[in-house]
Amino acid sequence: MKTAVIIIPTYNEADNIERLIKAIMQITDAITSWSFKIVVVDSKSPDKTADIVTSIRKTSPSVYLLETEKEGIGKAYSRGFVYALEKLKPDVLFEMDADFSHDPKSIPQFIKKLESGADFVIGSRYMKGGSIPKDWGIDRKIFSVLGNVIVRLGFMKLSITDWTGGYRAMRADLASQSIKHVDKYTGYVFQIALLDFAVKQHARIAEVPIKFTDRKYGVSKINSGHYIQNIFTYIFNNSSFVKYIMVGGVGFILDFGILYLLYRLAGWPIWLSQLCSAECAILSNFTLNNFWAFSHKREAGIHNFFKNLGKFHGVSMGSLIIQTASITAYEHFWGDTYVFLFKMGVIFLIIIPYSYVLYNRVIWKKKK
Ligand code: GDD
Ligand code: MN
Repeated sequence: MKTAVIIIPTYNEADNIERLIKAIMQITDAITSWSFKIVVVDSKSPDKTADIVTSIRKTSPSVYLLETEKEGIGKAYSRGFVYALEKLKPDVLFEMDADFSHDPKSIPQFIKKLESGADFVIGSRYMKGGSIPKDWGIDRKIFSVLGNVIVRLGFMKLSITDWTGGYRAMRADLASQSIKHVDKYTGYVFQIALLDFAVKQHARIAEVPIKFTDRKYGVSKINSGHYIQNIFTYIFNNSSFVKYIMVGGVGFILDFGILYLLYRLAGWPIWLSQLCSAECAILSNFTLNNFWAFSHKREAGIHNFFKNLGKFHGVSMGSLIIQTASITAYEHFWGDTYVFLFKMGVIFLIIIPYSYVLYNRVIWKKKK
């Protein structure tokens, strides 16, 4: 029989925790093919949440209490993961809020996804069938929707609809591998870091729709300003797409700068100047992408380096052909009035996605 451990972080959830544990047990008792345990990670709640859990433990041996300092929800989770992994031999770890925003009735759907091969299951508020509370203020709605859009675009991983939520289930070994990466994210951004790690490990990700309801008791501990700032910092440091765009910017400056130097200042012929500047940009783009933007997918060895350098030239040649063909056609049909604007359009709408997709599929491929 497989074991799932449900980890619930709490800070001042005295009005919720007992009812929630009962509600979870009612659902999980019906799933006879799995054994469930609950770990409450309480950060010294002044409202004595921990005392309530201690008294539940007297009659329910499958409930555990881990007491920690108040270091944020992320830290509570990583400590909860370590505790569960060391003590409870889990196959799967769940994350769940203590305030009934996450309905325990969804647990069987998570289990079903795990049983059909998923490594990481996300409870999604933004897929068909999921929802955020209607009674949330417009500011919280915008914040939540926008936050998710920013992360989806930032990672260019559009297939995942909910990056920030806290209702999830994952294979225990994946959680175990993630600790080193996620441990430093102490706040709500932890959820993004954990999912990003799973994606980069090529975990099989599945989503189930959830209807997120607002809490009736107690208050939210989220600090929106701080959170948004952490989201941007995280994406900036960890998104290969954002890094790829920056590498492209460096290449663009090199291309134009070197062309100017060689042609205007050194008086080289235009064809040679252009050839040299373009090649410098290609070499810079390749090196920075290889050792920085896509470094997590880089295969070691000098052989792979040159093989990929060759492929990179092929992809660059492709983008040269696309640009030359489209700009020539444009000029032929519509003249040259907006030709630079058109070139910018081609770069943003065709070249950037084209190169990004091919870099991922052909050069820095997923290791399987
Ligand atoms: N141990 C511990 N320590 N628990 C904490 C801490 C902490 O510092 N801060 C918050 N929690 C617990 C809360 O008691 C609750 O059980 C859960 O973490 C979620 O906290 P809320 O304060 O209720 O968060 P929310 O409802 O505003 O935020 C929701 O949306 C976020 C963004 O999408 C949650 O679903 C989050 O998990 C989610 O990341
Ligand atoms: Mn909440």
